[in-house]
Amino acid sequence: MTPDDAPIRFAILGAARIATKVGKAIQDANGAELSVIASRELSKAETWKQHHGARLAVEGYEEALRQPDIDAVYIPLPPSLHKEWTIKSAEAGKHVLCEKPTAMDAHEAREMLAVCKANGVQFMDGTMWPHTPRSQQMSQVLNDGTLGELRRVVSAFSIQMPDTPDQHRYIPELGGGALYDIGWYCVRASLWAFADVPTHVYASATYHRGVDNNATAILWFSDNRVASFDCGYDLTRRKWMEVVGESGNLVCDDFLSPWDIEKQRFWVHDQDGIATEIQSPSVVQETCMVESFVQIIRSKELSEYWPQVSLDNQRVIDALMVSARTGNREEVK
Ligand SMILES: NC(=O)c1ccc[n+]([C@@H]2O[C@H](COP(=O)([O-])OP(=O)(O)OC[C@H]3O[C@@H](n4cnc5c(N)ncnc54)[C@H](OP(=O)(O)O)[C@@H]3O)[C@@H](O)[C@H]2O)c1
Repeated sequence: MTPDDAPIRFAILGAARIATKVGKAIQDANGAELSVIASRELSKAETWKQHHGARLAVEGYEEALRQPDIDAVYIPLPPSLHKEWTIKSAEAGKHVLCEKPTAMDAHEAREMLAVCKANGVQFMDGTMWPHTPRSQQMSQVLNDGTLGELRRVVSAFSIQMPDTPDQHRYIPELGGGALYDIGWYCVRASLWAFADVPTHVYASATYHRGVDNNATAILWFSDNRVASFDCGYDLTRRKWMEVVGESGNLVCDDFLSPWDIEKQRFWVHDQDGIATEIQSPSVVQETCMVESFVQIIRSKELSEYWPQVSLDNQRVIDALMVSARTGNREEVK
C-alpha cells in the first residue's frame, strides 16, 4: 500500500445519535477508517466504542484532535458548537465533515471556511443525499433537457419531533429549529436543481419554546424561477421533492433518504401524464457521503463546491429566519 492508498483515519467528536449511522459508514466506506470516538464523558465514549467499534475512546474533543494518527473529523454536535470545533479541527490540520446546518449563521460559516482554506483542509457538511447515484441520475435528467427549462422546485420535509429535555432542536442557544434542521434539505434541493442561489425569500413560521417548529417558504431565483417548501416538527413524515420544467416534471417521494433501501427510484412525468419510473442502485447514503469526502482528500485537490454550497445553504436559511420574524420578503445576502 502506498501512502496515497492509506485509509483516511477519522475521529468522531461527540457520541451523537447520528454518529451511530455515520460511524458505521466510516467503517464500511472504501478508504476510511474509524479511529477515535470522543465524548465529553469518557464512560460514554467507552460505551460507544464497545457497541459501535473504534480503536480508541477518549474524554474531550481536544483529546481527539491531539491524536497524531487522525486525518479527519466528523462533527455531529449541536449547531452552536460547529464553528468552535471546525476551527479547532482545521487548525489541528484535520479535514472536517461537519453536520448541518453549517453554523448559527453565514458570518460564522464564512469564518469556518476561511480557516479550513488557510489550513489546507477540506470542509463538507453532512447533507447526505446529493452524494448518491440516484441524485446523480436525477441531476442528469434535470440537465439533459428532458423537462425543458426548469421553473419550479417544490419540496417538503416534516417529522414528529418529540419535545424531550435532551433535544437540542428545541433549544435556541444550541441552534434549534426546523428551518436550520430540516428546512435545510429543502433549500439544498432548490440550490441543487437550479444550480443557483435565490435573490429573495419569504417565510412564515410558528414557534415553540423559542424555535421555529413549522415553516412555509418561498425562494425567488432569477429568470422567474421559484422554489417553495414546507418543513415542520409537528406533521407526519414527508420527504419529497418535485422539479418542474416547461415540458415535464421529476418527482422523488423520498429524496432525503429512501423509504425502502432496496427500492431507490424516482419518476419523470411527461406533458401527457405518462410517468417513467427510474430505478437507482441500492446504496447507503451515509457511506456515499463518506466516500465522496475521502476521495477528495485522497485526490489532494480540495473541492471548492462543497464549502460554497454549504455557505449558500446557510445564507438562504439566514434570510428565511429573518423573514419569518419580520414578515417581510428578505434579500439573500
Ligand atoms: N445529516 C443527517 O442526516 C443528520 C441526521 C441527524 C442529525 N444531524 C445533525 O447532527 C447533529 C447532531 O444531531 P443528533 O440528533 O445526532 O444530536 P444528539 O444525539 O443530541 O447528539 C449531539 C451530541 O453533541 C454532544 N454535545 C456537546 N455539547 C452538547 C450540549 N451542550 N448539548 C447537547 N449535546 C452536546 C453530545 O456528545 P457527547 O456527550 O458524547 O460529548 C451529544 O451526544 C445536528 O447538527 C443535526 O442537525 C444530521
